[in-house]
Amino acid sequence: MATTAFIPQDYFRRYSVADIFGSGQECEVDLGCGDGGFLLEMARQHRERLYLGVERLLGRLRKVCSRAEMQGLENVRGVRVESRYFLEWMLQEGCVRRLHYLFPDPWPKERHHKKRFVQTDTVPILHRVLAPEGELLFRTDHEEYYDWVCDIVGGSPLFRQEEWTDIASYPATDFQRQWEALGKSIYSARFVRIS
Ligand SMILES: C[S@@+](CC[C@H](N)C(=O)[O-])C[C@H]1O[C@@H](n2cnc3c(N)ncnc32)[C@H](O)[C@@H]1O
Repeated sequence: MATTAFIPQDYFRRYSVADIFGSGQECEVDLGCGDGGFLLEMARQHRERLYLGVERLLGRLRKVCSRAEMQGLENVRGVRVESRYFLEWMLQEGCVRRLHYLFPDPWPKERHHKKRFVQTDTVPILHRVLAPEGELLFRTDHEEYYDWVCDIVGGSPLFRQEEWTDIASYPATDFQRQWEALGKSIYSARFVRIS
């Protein structure tokens, strides 16, 4: 695997941004980064920032890492791990400036709702890893999951939902392009961590 991959030697400890990137104190995290179209575009636009893609599928993560290397993006790392476990148990607290949670699986069937990443008990996990005033940026094509996330995160005393003013300059993801080509609506929300 390319050196852009962050391969944890120990899954039972927490890692700082410097452990993952070699230096730095804060990074942005793309949860379920897929093939990395969004992650790599953000990293290209903001070379002074650090971008970590979290993805559970090996083939996708390999693609992200090799594309980052080919494009000379030294501010990108990818880690193959389950998102919730990584945030809860492997990442140091307060080190994430922005968490990007984009076009996740909405698990539409009611009997599968328990598989959704955002649950009431996920909110303190998100709050722990975010820096003061850090942001959770969420986009989906699924209106019901959008409402679910707004109710749970926006309704929590740990976050406030705010207008997303610079959304026009936010890069499209690979899945977003697919949904937009099919004429689907896109729902977006921005949540700010309350200290
Ligand atoms: C629908 S795709 C969206 C990919 C990308 N965010 C986009 O918008 O193009 C969801 C991605 O999240 C990954 N994923 C789903 N559940 C995950 C989990 N619990 N931990 C890590 N990755 C996960 C999937 O493998 C898939 O690549």
